[in-house]
Amino acid sequence: MTGQEDYLWWKHGVVYQIYPRSFYDASGDGTGDLAGICAKLEYLAWLGVDAIWLSPVFDSPMRDFGYDVRNYTDIDPLFGTMEDFDRLLDEAHRRNIRVILDLVLNHTSDLHPWFIDSRLRRSGRDDWYIWADAKRGVGGTRRRPNNWRAAFGGSAWSWDTGRKQYYLHLFLPQQPDLNWRNPEVEKAMFSEARFWLEKGVDGFRLDVINYIVKDARLRSNPYRIHRTFPRRHDQQNHMYDRNQPETHSVLKRFRTMLDVYHETFTVGEIYPNEGVREPATSARYLGDGEDELHLAFDFSLLELPFSATAFRQALETWYRVLPERGWPCHVLSNHDKSRAMTRLCGGSVEKAKILATLLLTQRGTPFMYYGEEIGMQDRFMKKSELQDPLGKLYWPLFQGRDPARTPMQWETRRGGGFCAGDTVPWLPLHESLWKGCSVSEQQSDPDSLLFCYRSLLLRRRSRDELTRGNLTFLPSHPDVLAYRREYAGEASLIILNFSKYQRPCPEDGNDLTGYEIRLTES
Ligand code: NOJ
Repeated sequence: MTGQEDYLWWKHGVVYQIYPRSFYDASGDGTGDLAGICAKLEYLAWLGVDAIWLSPVFDSPMRDFGYDVRNYTDIDPLFGTMEDFDRLLDEAHRRNIRVILDLVLNHTSDLHPWFIDSRLRRSGRDDWYIWADAKRGVGGTRRRPNNWRAAFGGSAWSWDTGRKQYYLHLFLPQQPDLNWRNPEVEKAMFSEARFWLEKGVDGFRLDVINYIVKDARLRSNPYRIHRTFPRRHDQQNHMYDRNQPETHSVLKRFRTMLDVYHETFTVGEIYPNEGVREPATSARYLGDGEDELHLAFDFSLLELPFSATAFRQALETWYRVLPERGWPCHVLSNHDKSRAMTRLCGGSVEKAKILATLLLTQRGTPFMYYGEEIGMQDRFMKKSELQDPLGKLYWPLFQGRDPARTPMQWETRRGGGFCAGDTVPWLPLHESLWKGCSVSEQQSDPDSLLFCYRSLLLRRRSRDELTRGNLTFLPSHPDVLAYRREYAGEASLIILNFSKYQRPCPEDGNDLTGYEIRLTES
């Protein structure tokens, strides 16, 4: 490796997202936990990832499976104890694996002491959340302050009989939104973040970070037509309940705090006002490239068909809109979306290898989702199996997010090696487990998807052009994606045939076979 001296893990490494409930159950209760993650660190080191991002493990009533935090500085007993966390952090660091926590700054649980105080107008916390008086309708009826809808259904306002006011919740009523216009809220939240930085965590994924500040006048959102999803929430342009200019100032101050801690970083979850494919909105949260978020998710790739042209266009747009010193990142699957193996590949390993190659050889930081490396798929859920509040609301039109959150498939046996065979896992395992989709099966097959991921991860470590190099797309057939990465006189040429048919190779004009992957170095 030539680039060791300028290696920066969050730019040159690969982040692996773990949904802790589903990774490995060490305690025997059917739910994954911190000790379970610790037990699998050797596997992650073998695979070759550089960091793990844990979906929330903080104390929570679990109405939204941890995204409703009751105490930001404690571990939920379901996942273990603070000692388990400390041990995980140490053990991960010993293996050169960084640990990123998922920080929910937009809202807390309604059982968080801050909200309880706010409800009761106690401890100076009256306006730590977004409270508003009812409007008067015809005949003196009570009307909501504006038309905002919650992402999880219904109005974003719930009535509090004690305060005789509405409070805002952009998700569940049990997830009240904090009032970031109050400097005391910022102070308190920054201090919670500092608690983990002092412990040595390496950074944060910031949940819906562009939602934190709302319009000061609480104006109603304009309506829009959106045909693909039944939620009334999607029939609005979220002009006033997200992406307010003040958010950038908060993030600049957060960055200043973070910069005190060596090589820590943030990646923000960003949704544009309308729809999903609007990378310029994500790019804006990188500031000048060095003064806001380190990375911002652009979810365009999660909305594409399996098409070389579509990927090329989306990637070119993403690179074009980034600030000059900004750094891209890429993601194909996460805990909120259908897995790429189902959504784009229809279960085809050949297609999944194309996506793996693309993800791990593009310019920027790749994010993998647990189980992606073995080709885990969405599992169809019966209504009685659902856990996710979103799925319960919209099933069968939309199954919610459980299908992509099933337990990791470690071994082809009952319980999938995730939990003991006689334990009932919190979500059912996918039946692909019995068809070779498990770590143990694929570890003994050099042709498996798992080996494909591993060899790409190893290759990134030995070829600096893949992590630091510039990228040039090459002219090619619309079904073929071809690009060159170059750095310090070394180059890699990547050619991906997205079609099952033969297609001309842009390099020599000879035919590429269906779904062929060519990776050549010079
Ligand atoms: C985005 C998270 O990714 C999702 O899982 C969660 O339900 C919402 N934010 C609310 O926190």
